[in-house]
Amino acid sequence: MAEKKITLSVIKADVGGFVGHSTIHPDLAKTAIKELEKAVSKKLLIDFHVTNCGDDVELIMTHWRGKDSSDIHELAWNTFKEATKVAQKLKLYGAGQDLLVDAFSGNVKGMGPGVAELEFLERKSEPVIVFMADKCSPGAWNLPLFRMFADPFCTPGLIIDKSMHDGFIFEVVDIHQNKVIKLSCPEQMYDLLMFIGSAENFMIYNVYRKTDGEVAAAASTQKLSLIAGQYVGKDDPVCVVRSQSGFPAVGEILEPFSFPHLVAGWTRGSHYGPLMPCTFKDATPSRLDGPPRVIAAGFQIAEGKLIGPRDMFADSIWDYTRNKTAEAAEYMRRHGPFEPHRLPLKEMEYTTMPQIMKKYESKFLSMDGSAKDKNKGKKITVTTETD
Ligand code: F6R
Ligand code: MG
Ligand code: MG
Repeated sequence: MAEKKITLSVIKADVGGFVGHSTIHPDLAKTAIKELEKAVSKKLLIDFHVTNCGDDVELIMTHWRGKDSSDIHELAWNTFKEATKVAQKLKLYGAGQDLLVDAFSGNVKGMGPGVAELEFLERKSEPVIVFMADKCSPGAWNLPLFRMFADPFCTPGLIIDKSMHDGFIFEVVDIHQNKVIKLSCPEQMYDLLMFIGSAENFMIYNVYRKTDGEVAAAASTQKLSLIAGQYVGKDDPVCVVRSQSGFPAVGEILEPFSFPHLVAGWTRGSHYGPLMPCTFKDATPSRLDGPPRVIAAGFQIAEGKLIGPRDMFADSIWDYTRNKTAEAAEYMRRHGPFEPHRLPLKEMEYTTMPQIMKKYESKFLSMDGSAKDKNKGKKITVTTETD
């Protein structure tokens, strides 16, 4: 067993789509591999794997430098910059779209890319699953993380395994206030659900095992619309989960995805749709730019080396869920521009909704029948159930 903690950093960005927003061009992956190979030879990284989910380039990296290392974040940033140059040359769609600032300054969080990082002492055997999603917001992980770590109907290990029996602690971010809170399960389960049930406002960030505080999972919670103040993409989050021997089994970790739950995202980042667990090869959203996809890359970590990946949703048992996803997608699509397919009004604030409101602000008349515009000059505020 290693003496020193290793860090598993997953950093992703959409730096250009091929074609439209459906997937990446192979040259982007090649460029990223070239950059990360250099980092391995400089001993900045122990190992890496480059992949994509839809139009997002995913950098999966191991190193000794801890979470939030500016060296590692800068490496990721520069890698995305290099890939952007290729995307620009090929005129790929939305080249550099997730790189929201001109220059790197210490940490990619808040600059566009999504980040999930775990730091831990490598166990005798260290299986991890890296989930990567496209066309959805980071709230997509709330339901599966809750089920993995707090629902015994999903994870029998919560009852059966002594080291899990005390439960897990969920660290939740209030993404509007930029504050975090820790809630402990099972005791605070109902309180936790009150928050995370509103997945566009509260997002699970980290999960810890209660018996020893060991980190079990980390998720990216960056929401591009909040960073940029307007719609600039769909966040497309990543999540890393440690497995087995005191953590949920691989099967318990994958199990929540057997239900294609509705997540915010899909086309124009403005629709609810079912999350489809798919193979690496099928992570190419094409029906109305969707429906949202999730892939699961399994690795065994050996002295920091990434042994894998295994395509965890390649098993044909997932075909049933994929068919259910197609049915749910069809059902949701039939709503067209109506809620609940379209996101609630509050979430549309990052789209054209404010401009349309402004345009008609002075044209809303009072309901007393008078033609006199009582509202003239008054600001119309939109209220929603989340207000
Ligand atoms: C973005 C996405 C797409 C786009 C849509 C319109 O990640 O998945 O649904 O929102 O294709 O794209 P633009 O506005 O770039 O033409
Ligand atoms: Mg895109
Ligand atoms: Mg994407």
